[in-house]
Amino acid sequence: MKTILHVITQEMENAFRDCGYEASYGKVTLSNRPDLCEYQCNGAMAAAKAYKKKPIEIAQAVVEKLKESSVFEDVNAVMPGFINLKIDASFLADYMNRMCSENKFGMDEVEKPETVIVDYGGANVAKPLHVGHLRAAVIGEAIKRMGRFVGHKTIGDVHLGDWGLQMGLIIEELKDRQPDLPYFDEAYTGEYPKEAPFTISELEEIYPAASAKSKVDEVFKERAQEATFKLQKGYAPYRALWNHIMNVSLADLKKNYANLNVEFDLWKGESDAEPYIPGMVQKLIDDGLAHESQGALVVDVAEEGDTKEIPPCIIRKSDGASLYATSDLATIVEREQDFKPDHYVYVVDKRQDLHFTQVFRVAKKAGIVPQERKLDFVGFGTMNGRDGKPFKTREGGVMRLEDLIAQITDAAYDRIMENRTVSEEEARETARLVGIAALKYGDLSNQATKDYVFDLDRFVSFEGNTGPYILYTIARINSILKKYEELGGQVSGGAILPPEGEPEKTLMLALARFSEVMHTSFEELAPHKICAYIYELSNALNHFYHETKIIAEENKERQAGYIRLVTLTRDVLTSSIHLLGFEAPERM
Ligand code: ARG
Repeated sequence: MKTILHVITQEMENAFRDCGYEASYGKVTLSNRPDLCEYQCNGAMAAAKAYKKKPIEIAQAVVEKLKESSVFEDVNAVMPGFINLKIDASFLADYMNRMCSENKFGMDEVEKPETVIVDYGGANVAKPLHVGHLRAAVIGEAIKRMGRFVGHKTIGDVHLGDWGLQMGLIIEELKDRQPDLPYFDEAYTGEYPKEAPFTISELEEIYPAASAKSKVDEVFKERAQEATFKLQKGYAPYRALWNHIMNVSLADLKKNYANLNVEFDLWKGESDAEPYIPGMVQKLIDDGLAHESQGALVVDVAEEGDTKEIPPCIIRKSDGASLYATSDLATIVEREQDFKPDHYVYVVDKRQDLHFTQVFRVAKKAGIVPQERKLDFVGFGTMNGRDGKPFKTREGGVMRLEDLIAQITDAAYDRIMENRTVSEEEARETARLVGIAALKYGDLSNQATKDYVFDLDRFVSFEGNTGPYILYTIARINSILKKYEELGGQVSGGAILPPEGEPEKTLMLALARFSEVMHTSFEELAPHKICAYIYELSNALNHFYHETKIIAEENKERQAGYIRLVTLTRDVLTSSIHLLGFEAPERM
């Protein structure tokens, strides 16, 4: 079904054409003066220049042509040549009823579905998930769901940091603590134990200890580098240990991501790209793209017109080790082989901007991807505390994601208990849903590139632009529907009637924009646009609710129409929050 903007624009373009002007002047936008009109067209101004006429004359002629239109209730030409539009009530009601009956509320999927890889999460194995990883998971998950919803074949890949120095550090620390393990006995020829020699809590303690040690103990650091090198060359005992680290850590990561409603299709990591490195590097050399610079192998990526210096991309260090960029490039080689994605989306901290600029340029320059491949970097800002500095625990340490979730869930629980009418069990489950919504909406409602302040009290508030407010609106609708049913009404019957008052029409106009918002949000990789939309929709619903006696309405047909309308609103809200990665409780 055509988007409402499409229908209006077509109507307008026809009118311009019928008046003898180029149809494209009939472009329509949402009104920026909602007090005067609902949509507007400024095309007469541009047409005036091209046709050397007064804008108001063109506008008036076009308005005249639209007198009979069934789409508009009111079309006005105003000085110096704006065309103000109001949508016809019957047309709008008809549009609502079609939204109710069609799949995805009548949103057409994209005409050309693409394969999209969303690279997000990026957790580092054996290190606890901390709030720095929160944004990658939350934003990436939303973008993945949005892409899938509009019809793209969308694949989410966690791209674990599972291959770096942290592995060597853990191995050497373990050797110091448990030197008798068979992995450290070079003469050992038997099978390695199935059980890991550590638990997740031990592992989480081992890494920071080893990392701290390497900063003060140069010999230890060299040992760790050596161990990393051996592991990467395939040394069997370290491979076996690595497998243990991976298994123990992955189980924990999966649990943590699941608590956040974050699901990956692929659990690949930097290590999976390893086999593609030698061939790729050789090709860069053969093609004359990579050259030696101070012992290292680099590819120049500076381009004419760069406003800041883009240094060469280092592919191999002088000691032969490959780097982060090498691993990302090899991953692209692998993804081209496995999926040939049309579009890559990386959701990573914006401080990695330069890294991705370099990687994308090498990928295109070297023909690892064709020129037309879409490579997007969604760089996000930092989550700060109320002091404006990166978020920390009260003691000043790095906050673990688990603890953060617990904190916000507790705050939501307290808020729910203020007017407790539900069982303890239900309150706990509701608090969990509200907490996740508060956390995710608090993040997603900001433009991703911006830093934002984690404000617990504001995030869990049921009022204002918050996740709980959206959930509260859904719960309010559920309670209206329940009451209606208790009084003998049938929620599924009824048709939406033409709106009678401003609140009802405002609500319908907001609903009508659903499919446009879905497409634009994905095209711009901007989940905050969905947040802005559902906030506006919730406001419209609550305004309508306050101005309308739904349950006391005596005209049964009108009442059934209201019920249909609020049901549609609830369903649109529910689908939208699902795309953002959180769910609503039945009641609050
Ligand atoms: N593990 C990396 C980090 O913690 C993030 C990975 C991002 N994804 C990528 N393809 N480089 O910084």
